[in-house]
Amino acid sequence: MSNSQVQIFDTTLRDGEQVPGCKLNTEQKLIIAEQLDALGVDVIEAGFPVSSPGDFKSVEEISKLVKNATVCGLTRSVENDIRVAAEAIKYAKKPRIHTGIGTSDSHIIHKFKSNQEDILQRAFAAVKYAKSFVEDVEFYAEDAGRTDNNYLARVCEAAIKAGATVLNIPDTTGYCLPSEYGAKMKYLRENVKGIEKVILSCHCHNDLGLATANSIEGVINGARQIECTINGIGERAGNTALEEVVMILKQHPYLNLDTNVKTEMLYGISQLVSDSMGIYTQPNKAIVGANAFAHSSGIHQDGVIKNRETYEIIDPKAVGVTESAIVLTARSGRAALAYRAKNVGYELTKLQLDDVYANFLTFADRKKEINDNDIHQIIETSRVYREIISA
Ligand code: KIV
Ligand code: ZN
Repeated sequence: MSNSQVQIFDTTLRDGEQVPGCKLNTEQKLIIAEQLDALGVDVIEAGFPVSSPGDFKSVEEISKLVKNATVCGLTRSVENDIRVAAEAIKYAKKPRIHTGIGTSDSHIIHKFKSNQEDILQRAFAAVKYAKSFVEDVEFYAEDAGRTDNNYLARVCEAAIKAGATVLNIPDTTGYCLPSEYGAKMKYLRENVKGIEKVILSCHCHNDLGLATANSIEGVINGARQIECTINGIGERAGNTALEEVVMILKQHPYLNLDTNVKTEMLYGISQLVSDSMGIYTQPNKAIVGANAFAHSSGIHQDGVIKNRETYEIIDPKAVGVTESAIVLTARSGRAALAYRAKNVGYELTKLQLDDVYANFLTFADRKKEINDNDIHQIIETSRVYREIISA
């Protein structure tokens, strides 16, 4: 892997599936996994095998199906979890066990009623045990975002000694500022013995709307894997959105960071995940929302019709959207109306446009959005209709 390559670890089927009210069956998971593999993600976290027989079966079937990506199963630092995950991923071409434990004071004191030394031992033992089944073992320090950096570095060092290949630094509660999260990565790179042997991974939650920003700050500071979900779905406010981080890296080439993702597939897979999960994507969602490439104010429409780049930084085709949309509302101007009228077969002169536009405004004040049928009606009921069709 070149140093500018960022691995994309997709956890739509594990962390993403933890969305309240969402349950995918094995068949739906297989369809999504196949598309994720075709999309070019590097790792697919297929589930948490010990959690239920259904999840075990899904992970096992995904392991058999996936051709290119690494298939990963989640575990706690518990031997039985690790044994079950190893069994579930045994058919994978590239299997990975993802094991770990909470490292913040909050987790150590309240969740485990334990102490730092005991947690450190458990982390070491879990990685060591996972290594007896597979070569590729990722360790997560849950709630790393709120873990003291000095202690976090000691836990990471223990995981590396036990054989971890990837260290996941989750901001489990979405607490960190981008500068803090970036500094955490930098601190680990500078203070953990053996860090050069492993890949550092960002796993950020969106409780403060900072998941994407934190992940980007993480890779700027040396991480080389981002854990994310399609449409940013996940527990509470969700995870880092895959389509956002991938497009940020693509749109900012001077960062010299790239992924293997085929970006033209992003819109299609976003729709697939949204439909399968029954979770609708907000219209203003970056990259894949219905309005991400729609222009409705007159000033913006005029600019986009003259040159798309005046108000768009991404070519919609680059993410699988056929074209930018010029939406007609009462805020639209003549340029947008002329453009849409032309698309449905009417080439209007300037004078004809003045007349049709007056009619359009009366329609648009009554209706939120004007569609192609309305355009026909507006033109047919305008004073200059006969002149337009006889031209
Ligand atoms: O958010 C988190 O800490 C997680 C871990 C289980 C990786 O999802
Ligand atoms: Zn998570």
